[in-house]
Amino acid sequence: MAKETKTLDTLFHDTLKDVYFAENKIVATLPKMHDAAQSKQLKDAFSKHLAETKVHVQRLEEVFKIISKKPEQKTCDAIMGIIKEGSGVMKEYEGTPALDAGLLSAAQAVEHYEMSRYGTLRTWALELGMKDAAKLLQTTLDEEQATDIALTSIATKVVNQNAEKAA
Ligand SMILES: [Fe+2]
Ligand SMILES: [Fe+2]
Repeated sequence: MAKETKTLDTLFHDTLKDVYFAENKIVATLPKMHDAAQSKQLKDAFSKHLAETKVHVQRLEEVFKIISKKPEQKTCDAIMGIIKEGSGVMKEYEGTPALDAGLLSAAQAVEHYEMSRYGTLRTWALELGMKDAAKLLQTTLDEEQATDIALTSIATKVVNQNAEKAA
């Protein structure tokens, strides 16, 4: 039996569903990370990124619209794994000086995952001739990168020092 022909637009649609699942999971997870964080700077960073992430969900819905599909989620094992590791850190390091460092590392893993997905989707959108979709995806990619940089700055300034001080 001949295999169904799968083209780049099928792959684009599938990956869009994967990232849509991931962003929705992140919206559900960031409040828990905010509550667990000890430093105010880190709490503020999580709050800010929660607001941005809600917009990321909306932008993906706009991209679904551009390809005339309804927004749909497809389980993303990668983000489930990253979030599971983050929950493990929250439990294992609860009440310890290293907790924030652990939360930062989990959050940066999430950002890097998102950056890789958005970079890919943006490139595919351009290849498929969808400039408006590429622009939306690039805007989110820029915000993920800015968040990653902000988290690095918090890590070097505050959290890692605290973890070391208490050692
Ligand atoms: Fe995002
Ligand atoms: Fe993000």
